[in-house]
Amino acid sequence: CLTVDQAMAAQAFHLPPAKVERGEVESALASAPLQLSGSVRCGGQDHFYLETHTSWVQIDGDGIVQITASTQHPSETQAIVAHVLGLPSNKVVCRCLRMGGGFGGKETQANAFAAIAALAAQVTGHPVGIQLPRALDMQLTGKRHPFFRQFNVGFDEQGHLLALDVEMVADGGWSCDLSPPVLMRAMVHVDNAYFVPHLRVIGRIAKTNVASNTAFRGFGGPQGMLIGEEVLDRVARHLGLPPEVVRERNFYRADGTQGRNTTHYGQPVVDNPLPELWAQLLQSSDFAQRRMAIELYNAGQTKRKRGIAITPVKFGISFNKTEYNQAGALLLVYQDGSIQLNHGGTEMGQGLHTKMISVAARTLGVSPASIQIMTTSTDKVPNTSATAASAGSDLNGQAVKAACETVLARLQPIAAQLLDGAADDVAFADDRVFLRSDNPATRSVSFTQVVQAAYSARISLSATGYYRTPTIHWDAAAGRGYPFYYFAYGAAVSEVEVCAYTGVHQLRRVDLLHDVGESLNEGIDRGQIEGGYVQGLGWLTCEELCWNANGKLMTDAPSTYKIPTVGDVPTDFHVDLYHRSQPPSAQVIFNSKAVGEPPFMLALSVREALRDAVAAFGDPREVLLDSPATPEAIHRSIGRVIGR
Ligand code: MTE
Ligand code: MOS
Repeated sequence: CLTVDQAMAAQAFHLPPAKVERGEVESALASAPLQLSGSVRCGGQDHFYLETHTSWVQIDGDGIVQITASTQHPSETQAIVAHVLGLPSNKVVCRCLRMGGGFGGKETQANAFAAIAALAAQVTGHPVGIQLPRALDMQLTGKRHPFFRQFNVGFDEQGHLLALDVEMVADGGWSCDLSPPVLMRAMVHVDNAYFVPHLRVIGRIAKTNVASNTAFRGFGGPQGMLIGEEVLDRVARHLGLPPEVVRERNFYRADGTQGRNTTHYGQPVVDNPLPELWAQLLQSSDFAQRRMAIELYNAGQTKRKRGIAITPVKFGISFNKTEYNQAGALLLVYQDGSIQLNHGGTEMGQGLHTKMISVAARTLGVSPASIQIMTTSTDKVPNTSATAASAGSDLNGQAVKAACETVLARLQPIAAQLLDGAADDVAFADDRVFLRSDNPATRSVSFTQVVQAAYSARISLSATGYYRTPTIHWDAAAGRGYPFYYFAYGAAVSEVEVCAYTGVHQLRRVDLLHDVGESLNEGIDRGQIEGGYVQGLGWLTCEELCWNANGKLMTDAPSTYKIPTVGDVPTDFHVDLYHRSQPPSAQVIFNSKAVGEPPFMLALSVREALRDAVAAFGDPREVLLDSPATPEAIHRSIGRVIGR
């Protein structure tokens, strides 16, 4: 049983179905002026982190199992290794210096390889290292979940969605792993940025004989939002309306209508900048003008057509699993004023360590150069969560800030004595300490002087910090609650050209506008937005996993599994950070917003632009496009439009 379809035919599922529902879907569908139904599949995706799974285990002279692993979740790796070896957790330490990429693929899947290495180390008494060759990594480890979904949608002549009924089946593979929360995130993201008064989603996990599928950037969100965008486009084309108009008409809006601004799981949509952000992007991308130019181009061409689309992103930030929304940090200040910083998050290329250094530097008023970030380790900060759900900076940033504030509060009275002032008048900036009421240019002491004085006065120079996200709660059984502390928002315009002979497409121009609040680091955030978009592009257009009839993965190397390369990145690529008129109301670290996963879903605009280009080959009331939209899939799609 290798596919969702085979599993559905065999009724092979993990766990009972899950449901999230609002309103009276059946009666609202029946009474809607217009109705459509359909189904969509989408493929999985290999993480293709540059560093494959790797683990190094050495049992030290005291019998402590020292693990160095490429893991997004050192605390869970510690717990699993302890379990496998029959030891309590205090006999196991897991460290992660940094990963050569994780993308969700090392959230749970690193544990098994650490356990195998640890078991071998225990049995042989020698240090043991494991690193998977690429092909083995691709064959053995879980990937993004392929999904099958079917929908019934009811709407009016203006394209307002009135009722939506969705059934989705995620391909879980042989075990559950993270499939239940991935499925749930898909179920609570089918709405994307759109209000649907009556909405029901039923989700199941197919039990197939493939590797156990797992977290991957977006964590089910992309699979959920793909259906939302599919429905919007199908409705718009059915009515002969521009999809971007129908999309905008259905946005969540704070227009005073009761309940019109609440998701199907009961969370109000606050601080929603999408109506303005959307208008700004339409303008900056020259959308209307280009739409006309494309029509003109298409009128003069028979075998090549261009298409354009704009799509929104609304993505919930926080772990649905409430207890994961906590973090810790440990700050050590030495007598020479130099600082070691530990926090519970892991670095995988997303720049978390750089951001954490800047949070500490800003809070302590010292230069980043005086702060050494330490290897993430379970003996420094215990009981940590996976670095995932894009919440790494939000959670660890607050814990780091709390640790710094504890040390500062101890240093303030010491500095006040040195400066002959009041403790609450003391300020720390640019490695100097001074009185706010004073002129810092004429009178200040160095941070190091204050630290030395504190040591002499027998004041502790180290502190832990701790944070838990307020407000959130989630009732998984009822499918209701306030699971997300806030939402991340963005929008994207993509323009493509497709060839009817080959199905090959070019990405002509891309404009992204994304809301990161007040960025902690613009360079990193731009990198995350570009990288997320390009990784999404890969999932939606070129990465295709194929198994043979015996269940052997045939696409287990870059030669057969095509990830996007630099040549696939659009040359005309505009990335802008959205500037909010006011900071988000959620108390996020220095008013920044999570950026790791949300931009991935900006790539849905490519799929919709491809559909727009395919539509230009005729005047169809629907465009069916498989996902991934490989050249073969685009060729088939054009064939359906022109009756080939
Ligand atoms: N960026 C790079 N370069 N490498 C990665 O492995 N993982 C992504 C995203 N960006 C990843 C990345 C995923 S899946 C998540 S959840 C977030 O980073 C995790 O980090 P954060 O919470 O610090 O944003
Ligand atoms: Mo990311 S999929 O939450 O590791």
